[in-house]
Amino acid sequence: MLLSGLGAILVSVVGAGTMLPTPAGRVPPEEVRQTPPFDNPGVREIEPGKYEAVIVAQIWAFVPNEIRVPAGSEVTFKVASADVVHGFFIENTQVNAMIIPGQITEVKQTFDEPGEYLLICHEYCGIGHHNMWGRVVVE
Ligand code: CUA
Repeated sequence: MLLSGLGAILVSVVGAGTMLPTPAGRVPPEEVRQTPPFDNPGVREIEPGKYEAVIVAQIWAFVPNEIRVPAGSEVTFKVASADVVHGFFIENTQVNAMIIPGQITEVKQTFDEPGEYLLICHEYCGIGHHNMWGRVVVE
């Protein structure tokens, strides 16, 4: 059930094409885990109603793989790869980015509706690619 859902999402993603956002900074993949803020990934409130979610994309997981925010939050995702090219796609949102090794990708999204939003890697990244997913929980 989940797998067939993912398949449908992948097909629609390929059809829509993938944005290449301007890099928000640079960090070599081998230094990601030692470089702030990626040495301490997770979600933090930066001002009322605004959150920053720092995520490391790596084979084959997002770290962390669950982000929790209250409904109505604006979330800035800061994502960097610790190895190869990954995708960063959140269902039912505008978030659709490629995570290129060496670049910090920043995407912003406001979550008005409570619920669970599936986060998937939609760039093929090796044998465990289909296991690389997480979720945004909006409470
Ligand atoms: Cu990471 Cu596909």
